[in-house]
Amino acid sequence: MATTAPLLVEKVKLAKAPLEMHYLGDRVLRQPAKRISRIDDSLRELITQMLQTMYTQDGIGLAAPQVGLNKQLLVVDCAYDEPDVPPLVLINPKIVSSSREISVGQEGCLSIPNVFLDVKRPAMVEVSYKDEYGRPQKRKFEGLPARVIQHEMDHLNGVMFVDRVESDLELTEALTQEGFAVKHVRSVKKAK
Ligand code: NI
Repeated sequence: MATTAPLLVEKVKLAKAPLEMHYLGDRVLRQPAKRISRIDDSLRELITQMLQTMYTQDGIGLAAPQVGLNKQLLVVDCAYDEPDVPPLVLINPKIVSSSREISVGQEGCLSIPNVFLDVKRPAMVEVSYKDEYGRPQKRKFEGLPARVIQHEMDHLNGVMFVDRVESDLELTEALTQEGFAVKHVRSVKKAK
């Protein structure tokens, strides 16, 4: 009989992350990800490797494009210091509704190491998605999980958090300091 237990991945740093990371400036991070139609053991193996890659780098979220995969898949774990709390796995996620209330918080990204800047986002989002066993889920998130999920969902649309940073001065300074080219930012803040 098939099990549908939460994926058990030890929340530890491995000597080497199983998946290779991609960084700001890499084209795969700018491509829209494709819907996943098959949720099977090989996808769950990939999810396990994504989680191991995330924990190894002290991340709290990772989207498939960051490891070079053009798939609508992300993992999130804001309880990285609680070994028994299972991580969140979101497949083909969609935002059903979001709050009018906006929250400002500092973000970072494993694809832009050591750059941390403030981003405005809706404080609460309701998201529908499939879990790692293909079961449809619909949940409301607020606080840090809401921020992380929106950040990771942006990756599935080829959007990076630096695209949403309002302070050009701070953005330029932080990116330049870490050796990233400002030309790789595709600002979305004046899109409307
Ligand atoms: Ni990111």
